[in-house]
Amino acid sequence: MKAIIHPGQSPAQVEAQRADCLRQRNIAAKFHYETRRQADLWLKLHAQYAPADTAAPYRAAAMALANQWPHADGTLIALGCGGGEKDLVILDALPPDTHFVPTDVSEPLVLKAAEAVPGSKPLVFDLAVAENLLAFIGQHAGPNRIFTFFGIIPNFCPAEILPQLRALLKPEDRFLMSANLAPNGMAAILPQYDNGATRDWLAEFPRTHGAGEGAVKIGIEQDGSLQHIAAHFSFEEPCVMDANGEQFNFQPGDDLRLFVSYRYTQQSLSETLSLHGIVIEHSFLSANQEEGVFLCALQ
Ligand SMILES: C[S@@+](CC[C@H](N)C(=O)[O-])C[C@H]1O[C@@H](n2cnc3c(N)ncnc32)[C@H](O)[C@@H]1O
Repeated sequence: MKAIIHPGQSPAQVEAQRADCLRQRNIAAKFHYETRRQADLWLKLHAQYAPADTAAPYRAAAMALANQWPHADGTLIALGCGGGEKDLVILDALPPDTHFVPTDVSEPLVLKAAEAVPGSKPLVFDLAVAENLLAFIGQHAGPNRIFTFFGIIPNFCPAEILPQLRALLKPEDRFLMSANLAPNGMAAILPQYDNGATRDWLAEFPRTHGAGEGAVKIGIEQDGSLQHIAAHFSFEEPCVMDANGEQFNFQPGDDLRLFVSYRYTQQSLSETLSLHGIVIEHSFLSANQEEGVFLCALQ
């Protein structure tokens, strides 16, 4: 099976984005899922640290959606599907002729998701920056759409990703998203990130771009009223990274932000979504309340 690649993911454009990230010393999430090895390290980490009862809220949300979904041959469009496990829980509850369109910026991951469903149409695009995305999706997906958006909102400042998402949604679509929550504060969830498996995964970017010795430092940071886990690479040796024909110099003590994971409460998520015209209609929480699945509609 082959994935269909959005023109914005051409090698030249990806190289220009990589150079922008190095210039700003802030690496976009997409660059941590680029290679087969990064995808495998992330899948391993995900299997190790995902809360044990994670599937339950997805199953509950799937049943609630299926009970009110009238179309025998609609389309499930999975945004940032990763390995697709959560989207497949939703698909399983829908009528058997529902089409599956897994999408992700990572070709290895989207192909893994597509393998599980014969006849699916894997698409590769960058949800944050792709232009004319609704038209591109329209070339490969029919009407009567359900969008899923699982595990993506944590890795972006919400003002960067929610306008892009909102532009895809029409009033007749259904929309399911998930968010990571911090019901007992950020310190309680820090060990899910501050561990060897996360460091191994995130260190792949600096390692494969020529960094020598350095440390991945993981902690809690504040952005306005929201808190997130952040990971930074702290250089311990001089190095030069190349991208798009440019060279970027780093010295010992320099910092490269690698990753963020925003955490929400149900209230802060609801307030954040409403700034972008999205309302939560039903919420489904894991037993430990650290993961929520939300059936949403447009305001
Ligand atoms: C934390 S994983 C979540 C995967 C899956 N949906 C889940 O919940 O298990 C984040 C996913 O978003 C994808 N991703 C990161 N940046 C993206 C972007 N700019 N556009 C589309 N997908 C992106 C990654 O490749 C990865 O598969």
